[in-house]
Amino acid sequence: MASQAAKSRKDGGADVLAIFGITGDLARKMTFRALYHLEAREKLACRIVGVAIDDWSVEQLREHARESIAETVKDPDEDVFKRFAERISYVQGDYADADTFKRVAKELGKPKRPVFYLEVPPSLFATVVEGLGSADLVVDDARVVIEKPFGHDLDSARELNAELQQVLSEDQILRIDHYLGKEPVMDITYLRFANAILEPVWKRQYVSHVQMTIAEDFGVDDRGRFYDSVGALRDVVQNHALQVLSLIAMEPPSGNQPDSVRDKKLELFKAVRAADPKQYVRGQYVGYHDVKDVAPDSTTETFAAVELEIDNWRWSGVPFFIRAGKCMPTKASEVNVVFDRPPRLGVGGGKLPEPNQLTVRIEPDPGSRIRLFAKEAGEEAFEPADLEVLFEKEPGGDPEPYERLLGDALAGRTELFTREDAVEETWRIVEPLLEKPGRAYQYEPGTWGPKQADKLTRGICQWRGPWLP
Ligand code: BG6
Repeated sequence: MASQAAKSRKDGGADVLAIFGITGDLARKMTFRALYHLEAREKLACRIVGVAIDDWSVEQLREHARESIAETVKDPDEDVFKRFAERISYVQGDYADADTFKRVAKELGKPKRPVFYLEVPPSLFATVVEGLGSADLVVDDARVVIEKPFGHDLDSARELNAELQQVLSEDQILRIDHYLGKEPVMDITYLRFANAILEPVWKRQYVSHVQMTIAEDFGVDDRGRFYDSVGALRDVVQNHALQVLSLIAMEPPSGNQPDSVRDKKLELFKAVRAADPKQYVRGQYVGYHDVKDVAPDSTTETFAAVELEIDNWRWSGVPFFIRAGKCMPTKASEVNVVFDRPPRLGVGGGKLPEPNQLTVRIEPDPGSRIRLFAKEAGEEAFEPADLEVLFEKEPGGDPEPYERLLGDALAGRTELFTREDAVEETWRIVEPLLEKPGRAYQYEPGTWGPKQADKLTRGICQWRGPWLP
């Protein structure tokens, strides 16, 4: 039987993967693990050329890969690792030096379908892409995978796009948002469009509001230098949260073209009103200033809560509340679609029934739940009856986000990468909040952010605690 690897090669998969910044943190924490898993599933069919400034030998790089995999993969298989390690070679060099790219070109040979993965600081994206261009490496079927953050605001995102597009066409640029590679995020489209009972009620006539929470129960740890110049709004709201929101709110995609979903997401982003700074609350956890490399007087937010509105026939008047924060009581990521309350009827002892809710849980255990209400046995009252669909899998059974996204990049699938037009729209949406951030209120670690965040939803709802397993 032909292996997956042989099949994808025949189908036109990448013939080489060049990773710029292979000695860095992201590679250590994520990339080697993802590539190891692709190898284990026989989905890796090309050479891997690492590029970085460190003066390492290829043996050192392979040893580093081994250690990274040992740290991040449970019981790695030695045969799989050997196969993987044999693919690796290394080019040392400075990205500002044209000679580096000549050496990369020599190492790559004459690839037809190279994938270049840029795990370098954003300030170097354009330099590396220019170097690839001048070494004639950007052939028609070349693809360049770029990590977030993609820009710092709308202007810088536009500038970066313009710089990249001097060398690359838009369809050669694959911008990563790892949330889009998460199984439960991908499931949102299925949940919505594979269930005929949902579509008729998925609109302003039945939905009261939508809430999204992206909470982490740890702080900024060793990422002070990066995080302090970014903050929660840029770190997770502009990208991960808005991407999820677009899948929850977009119109049904028509056709099954690579751009069907991305077109609908763009349409949705265009309908989202630029955020109102009055509907925005920032917080900073107590102790943030003690994090290494954080400025002593930093006002960077580690918590952001915002209300967004969508101006279209489906959603006009339905508030979308998003909150995201570090040092929260738990790690949980979920979306709640909350339906209108039923009228008070002569059942349930006159109690006002709760609204129905549909929850999509992204973390910790992927799943979704519809909350209905039924009569409590023996009592004249309601109790919630939850219809739950849990997508519990064997650990390691599903591709993790980076494995899926890198696998897609190698295979030439682009659906799960973000397009320039959408990235710019998401910056447009948050731009007023960047311009007028307002004060960052302190909150105690282990709480749900500053109490001011509760006022944001007052009158409409309260923040719902996450649905935990
Ligand atoms: C990253 C942010 O993009 O997403 C991190 O930079 C955040 O600050 C992370 O912790 C959250 O992703 P996940 O997959 O761990 O929920």
